[in-house]
Amino acid sequence: MENKIEHIKNEAVKELATASDKESIKALSVRYLGRKGVITQFLRNIPGLPPEERPVAGKKANEAKKFLDAAFNEALKELERASAADDRIDVSLPGRTPSRGFLHPITEITRQICDIFTRLGFDIAEGPEVEKDYYNFEALNIPKNHPARDMQDTFYVSEDIVLRTHTSPIQVRVMEKQEPPVRVIAPGKVYRCDSDLTHTPMFHQVEGLLVDENISFGDLKGMLTTFVHQMFDTRTSLRFRPSFFPFTEPSAEVDILCVMCRGKGCRVCSQTGWLEVLGSGMVHPAVFEYAKYDTARYTGFAFGMGVERIAMLKYGIDDIRKFFENDFRFLRQF
Ligand code: DAH
Repeated sequence: MENKIEHIKNEAVKELATASDKESIKALSVRYLGRKGVITQFLRNIPGLPPEERPVAGKKANEAKKFLDAAFNEALKELERASAADDRIDVSLPGRTPSRGFLHPITEITRQICDIFTRLGFDIAEGPEVEKDYYNFEALNIPKNHPARDMQDTFYVSEDIVLRTHTSPIQVRVMEKQEPPVRVIAPGKVYRCDSDLTHTPMFHQVEGLLVDENISFGDLKGMLTTFVHQMFDTRTSLRFRPSFFPFTEPSAEVDILCVMCRGKGCRVCSQTGWLEVLGSGMVHPAVFEYAKYDTARYTGFAFGMGVERIAMLKYGIDDIRKFFENDFRFLRQF
C-alpha cells in the first residue's frame, strides 16, 4: 500500500518535470488532486482496506496530497517569475512623453492683463466673490433704486449679501485699507443672472484703480492706450465714448478698432468697425467720501474689463460658453 502511494507520487513528480506551461501543470493538478483525481480516489477507497492498513495508508496519502499540491503551486509561481523576467525593456521603442499641462485660456489672458499692469507699477488686489451689498452697490454710489440692482441681474444670497456682479467692490475694499497713492489691478470671478452666446452666469473681470494727486482724464487715456497697444498691437486704435457709471464722473466706454476687419465693418463688430472692451472714468467724489479720502486733494481713475470678451477677440472665438464646457479639443488649442 505504501509503495503504491509512493509510486503515484513519483509518477506525478516525473510528469511535472516535463510540464512546461500553465495549462499542463493545471491539468496535472486536476488529474492527481481533482475531485476524480488519482490521490482523491485512493483516499476514498481507504475504508475498503483491511483495518490494520488504513491508518498508514491514510497518513501516506494525505502527505502525498500535500506534497504534490505544494509542488504544483511552486511550479506555477516559477513560470510566472520567468515570464515577468521576459518582459524586458525594448530600448528601440519611442519614449512615452508625459502630456504637459497648460493654462486655461481665461487664466492665460488674465495673467497677460495683470502682467501688463504690474509692469506699469500696479499691485494685484483681490476681494470676496460673496460680497456685501454695501461694497457691491452702496459704496459705489449705486442707489437703492438703480436698475443694476434688479433681481434679474443680481444673484442675491440674502437681503444684503450678493454674489458680486463686478470687480468694482474691490476698489472700495482697497481704499478702506490704504491711503493714496493707490495703483491696483484686481482680477476675479463675477456673477450675473444672464446666459446666451455672449453671456454666462459666471465670468471674469479685471478692475483697475489709480488714485493720487493731480490725476487727470489724460492719465486714464494714456494708461489704457498703453494697455491696448500691448494687449493687441499698436495698430489697434482706441475711441473713448461718453457713457454713464454711477461710480465715475465723467465716464467713458472704450472701443478698440475691430481686430477682425481693422475698421472696415464685419459681423464681429456689427459693421461698426469698433468693439467695446472697457468701462472707465474718473472716480466719483461720492465714492471717495465712502472711502474717507480727501476729495480736495486726490483724484483718480478706474476701469473694468471682461476677460472672456478680450479672450474672444484675441483668439477669434464666437461663443463664450466654449470656455466653460471643458472640451479638451477646444482647450488644447491655446
Ligand atoms: N463695473 C463695471 C461693469 O461691470 C465696469 C466698470 C466701469 C468698472 C467703469 C470701472 C469703471 O471701474 O470705472 O460693467
